[in-house]
Amino acid sequence: MTHPLFSLKGRVALVSGTAQGMGRAMAIGFAEAGADVMICDINTDGLQATAKHIEGLGRRVVPVTCDITNVEQIRAMFAQLDREFGKIDILANVAGPGKLKQPEDISLEEMQTTIHGLIIARFCACQEAGRRMLAAGKGSIINFSSIGGVTALGRGNFAYSVGMGGVAQMTRELSTEWSGRGVRVNAILPAQVMNPGLEDRMKVDPNLESMFLRGIPIGRLGQPDDVKGLAIFLASDASAWITGAIIPMDGGNLAQNAGGTAGPRKAAN
Ligand SMILES: NC(=O)c1ccc[n+]([C@@H]2O[C@H](COP(=O)([O-])OP(=O)(O)OC[C@H]3O[C@@H](n4cnc5c(N)ncnc54)[C@H](O)[C@@H]3O)[C@@H](O)[C@H]2O)c1
Repeated sequence: MTHPLFSLKGRVALVSGTAQGMGRAMAIGFAEAGADVMICDINTDGLQATAKHIEGLGRRVVPVTCDITNVEQIRAMFAQLDREFGKIDILANVAGPGKLKQPEDISLEEMQTTIHGLIIARFCACQEAGRRMLAAGKGSIINFSSIGGVTALGRGNFAYSVGMGGVAQMTRELSTEWSGRGVRVNAILPAQVMNPGLEDRMKVDPNLESMFLRGIPIGRLGQPDDVKGLAIFLASDASAWITGAIIPMDGGNLAQNAGGTAGPRKAAN
C-alpha cells in the first residue's frame, strides 16, 4: 500500500509542457497519485495523447492548448481552471524556452525572449496560482530550473542559464514570502534528461553523450520518468516542511561540481 502522506487524492494540479518529457511524466505521476489535472502545451496532438492516457487512469483531465510564454494565454488558462475546477493545489512550471548561442553573438532580442519565457512568464503563472493558493491557505508550486541555474555550463547555454538562475532565485523569494501563509515553493534542477532535442544534438555530435556522462557519476543520462517520485513528493504532504529548496535531479552532477562538464575549449584569440 502507498503511504497516505504521498496521496494526492482530491487535489487539483496544473502542469505545463505535458505533450512529452518531464511535464508529461509529472502530470501522469500526479494522476497516478490521485490528483485531477489541467495540462497544457503548444503541441495539441501530444497534449491530447497525454490526456487520453490520464483519462485511462480514471482521473479528470482538462487539456488546454496554451503558449506559456504568452501572459494573456496564461491568465485565460487560469480563468478556465477556475471554471472547471474552482481551485488549484499544485502548480508545476515545466515548459520553458532555451536558446543556444554564445554571449558575444546573441542578440538582445534573443536574450529578452528567453528571459521573458523563463522568468516573467513563469512568474505570471506563479502569481496566478499563488493568489489562489494564498486565499485557500495552502498549495505547492514546483518550478523547473536546471543545473545551469546554479552553476555555469558554458557551451552556449548563456541565456538559458541566466534565465534558470532567475527561476532558482524566484523560487527562494516566493517561498520566503508565501510559505508562512501555507504556500510552499520549490525548484527541481535536472541535469541531462533524454528528450528529442537532446537526441538530435547527440546524433550531430557523437562525443556529446560521453562528455555529459563524465559529469554524471550515477553513470547514465536521465529519463523523463526519473522526475515522477520527486514531483509527487514535492506536491504532497510528505514534503510539508520543505520549501524554498533548490533540488538537483542530476545523477550526482552538482555534488561532483561538474555542471560545466569540461569539453574541449576553443583557444582565446
Ligand atoms: N531535458 C533536460 O536535459 C533538461 C535539463 C535541465 C532543465 N530542463 C528543463 O526541464 C523542462 C522540461 O524539459 P524536457 O526535457 O522534459 O522537455 P521536452 O523538450 O521533452 O518537452 C517540453 C514540452 O514543452 C512544450 N512546450 C515548449 N514550449 C512551450 C510553450 N511556449 N508553451 C507551452 N508548451 C511548450 C513542448 O511542446 C513539449 O511538449 C524545461 O524547462 C527544460 O528547460 C531540461
